[in-house]
Amino acid sequence: MRSETAPAIRLEDYQPPAYRIGTVDLRVELAPSETIVRAVLSITRQDGTHPGTPLELDGDDLALVSLTIDGRVPGQDEFNAAPDRLELFTPPAESFELELVTRLDPDANTKLMGLYRSSGTYCTQCEAEGFRRITYFLDRPDVLSVYTTRLEAEKDACPVLLANGNLIEEGPLGDSGRHFAVWHDPHPKPAYLFALVAGDLARVPARFSTQSGNEIALNIYVEHGKEDRCAWAMDSLIRSMRWDEEVFGLEYDLDVFNIVAVSDFNMGAMENKGLNIFNDKYVLADPETATDQDFANIEAVIAHEYFHNWTGNRITCRDWFQLCLKEGLTVFRDQEFSSDMRSRAVKRIADVRLLKSHQFPEDAGPLAHPVRPRTYHEINNFYTATVYEKGAEVVRMLKTLIGDDAFKAGLDLYFERHDGDATTIEAFLACFSEAASTNLDQFSRWYEQAGTPVVTAETDYDEGSKTFTVSLSQEIPPVPGQKNSKPAVIPLRFGLIGANGNDLDTGAPEGTRLQGDVLILNKAHQKITFDNIESRPVLSLLRGFSAPVRLNQSLSQDELVFLAAKDSDPFNRWQAVQTLLMKDLVRLTGETRQGNRAAPSSDTIAVIGNVLTDASLDEALRAQALVLPSEADIAQEIGKNVDPDAVYEARQQLRKAIAGAHGAEFQSIAKSAMPNGPFSPDAASAGKRALANRALSFVAVSELAGAAETIWERFAAAYNMTDRISALTLLVHDHLAKEEEALATYLKRHESNSLAMDKWFMTQATAPGAETLAKVRALKTHPLYDAGNPNRVRSLLQSFATGNPTQFARGDGAGFELVAESVLEIDRRNPQVASRLLTSFRSWRALDPQRSALAETALLRVSSFENLSRDSRDIVDRTLQ
Ligand code: ARG
Ligand code: ZN
Repeated sequence: MRSETAPAIRLEDYQPPAYRIGTVDLRVELAPSETIVRAVLSITRQDGTHPGTPLELDGDDLALVSLTIDGRVPGQDEFNAAPDRLELFTPPAESFELELVTRLDPDANTKLMGLYRSSGTYCTQCEAEGFRRITYFLDRPDVLSVYTTRLEAEKDACPVLLANGNLIEEGPLGDSGRHFAVWHDPHPKPAYLFALVAGDLARVPARFSTQSGNEIALNIYVEHGKEDRCAWAMDSLIRSMRWDEEVFGLEYDLDVFNIVAVSDFNMGAMENKGLNIFNDKYVLADPETATDQDFANIEAVIAHEYFHNWTGNRITCRDWFQLCLKEGLTVFRDQEFSSDMRSRAVKRIADVRLLKSHQFPEDAGPLAHPVRPRTYHEINNFYTATVYEKGAEVVRMLKTLIGDDAFKAGLDLYFERHDGDATTIEAFLACFSEAASTNLDQFSRWYEQAGTPVVTAETDYDEGSKTFTVSLSQEIPPVPGQKNSKPAVIPLRFGLIGANGNDLDTGAPEGTRLQGDVLILNKAHQKITFDNIESRPVLSLLRGFSAPVRLNQSLSQDELVFLAAKDSDPFNRWQAVQTLLMKDLVRLTGETRQGNRAAPSSDTIAVIGNVLTDASLDEALRAQALVLPSEADIAQEIGKNVDPDAVYEARQQLRKAIAGAHGAEFQSIAKSAMPNGPFSPDAASAGKRALANRALSFVAVSELAGAAETIWERFAAAYNMTDRISALTLLVHDHLAKEEEALATYLKRHESNSLAMDKWFMTQATAPGAETLAKVRALKTHPLYDAGNPNRVRSLLQSFATGNPTQFARGDGAGFELVAESVLEIDRRNPQVASRLLTSFRSWRALDPQRSALAETALLRVSSFENLSRDSRDIVDRTLQ
């Protein structure tokens, strides 16, 4: 028997809650396998709710010890308690007090939702629906309550006791060896923002004084011995707090801001009010164990969670369909922060790469959904690239469309009008509509329609009339369950470039909506004619990636080469290089598949040569331009009947051809770009390292004498993780001499550091070559691997499934089998991690017939499993649909 699919929850069925919970008083007596939670809830019937309407509270795996209503023990006929639900048939008066005592087993909680222990530390994760694993509750984001939390625990085991808000009392509990702390959070909040932490942790303190002069105590709590690795996170926090004041006028609102790093965490981090809990990989960093990418990620995630204090906590979501209200906006905010801290162009390129590699395939496959979904079976499966990354793009487009000033005014209005609310996308958009005096009804389709619009652009120059015509059209390819997509409002930033490389001053053509350098496409087809154009210009379209669309523009090879050299927009310059590379890669893949031997185009090789030597581009930009489209990117571009082996061959062929043509330059850049002197994680130094390591990746496949030795020497001499892991990856992925020795050396050096070991697992799991499968199987039993730890699972299995296309999609189906079997193993213990791993099948229909049949077999095997979790059931059903 196959497990049932959970019923669908629909946006259109939303009803406001029948009861409110004004205050929540918790007393949590912590013990590893028997924690007692006493919750006193003050409950009020809402206006408009019929007296006597039953009260239904959510639960999940709960054991009720006792309950009283206004101090009275109710009769058996007055309520019904099940693990997933508590119902009071006829609640007494308009307001009453419900006292609930539940018993929890934190040590047995392997789902890492609700209250659990991570390396001995008690911690919680309540978003989205974890609070109901602590006590019965109206566990929905539109029920806002003031929480007071009293924690009791053994003083030796748990000297640190933390919860949301400000500490109001603490002390010993007689001479029992136990002690207590009481925290009070004055800001009403939904249950998903509740958190507690208790354990034996080290504290790294700092202070921040706000614009208006409030002194805030900042603390990062980590396992003892890891204090030295918190400096970057603290520095990032302080910069985030300052930036939010300066850019958005938003100040922090409690006396203390605590961050706790834990090693077992399902997601990246969580914005619990005043008590952010982080996956330790987004806190801990030093040059020895963290890469430049890790430093950048920490800066971004620390900022993201801090920014949620306003966009998410002060103003929260009415229901979970509105998740993008807080996530899209907060990602937009953290992207802007990183852009201000680093290089805007490089950050934009990195963000678009992420969007295209993660969100576009999601939007093109069976798991496609609108930024604001209308239905779900399991909300945890909607923390997606679409909600987060596309959600941020939609906010960015809004800014482009209405302009910086109106955008700022709209946000100010949003904060003023909705502070303290649990609200909706409609209410959010209304603020901008008012501030800009513009109608955003058509714009709101970005929240409603799934699928990536394809914009097609054709140009025509008429010598006689001196006119340049741009014909634009838009269309959303078919999306499961979505008929008749309607035209969206698409802001297209553009320039017409003259022969000298300068942008022409075009003015607004007749009958078109044009705002500065932004063309607004809001119909299925549109024609725009520019007058007085003396000679044929080159159209640079979608500058800065001004909309999350696929652009289908008929640029000639010469025009692409021109843009790659001349476009004043750094993003589109980068894009032109990528387009040239991609064109070659798609052609080479086709030829490889036919058994033909073709050569990369000389243009591509020459363009790369120009990038290499262009001193006007900074190192980070040059490094970005030298990153070849990934195998997954190429597969996506091909779209159907994909043979991952041919893709891999073609990509290697291009890489070798580029290395062959520019080997000497690469060798000299690998030496000269490398920064010397002590390590600094700043963007400029990171850019230099990125360029040097990128150059080295071409040296590795060049025919140059001593190439393999060079890589080994780089590995052996590396004094920071960025350089060490870059070299190790080349040694292992290109099967260079001393590959095994390098892996052994790395293991020895980092075996006591699990985050560094994740990189070791990942490097091996993503290595091309048939032997990887057996290696991954063997690594599943490695003493340092732990199937219960989400970071380990992601580093070994998720990276195999998403970062190793030839081996995951092996022609014998063994890669799919390995992942399917692992999903089933993990699902019993941690459904969220399992269902996430299962999403790696999402593009299975794009594979060639033999491989897609094998993928389907693996999916059916998962689907036939009796006790599949709701999370995995939802993903497998949708993937197969
Ligand atoms: N709100 C968190 C963040 O984006 C993510 C929490 C996700 N939790 C989950 N159970 N899916 O910062
Ligand atoms: Zn978030």
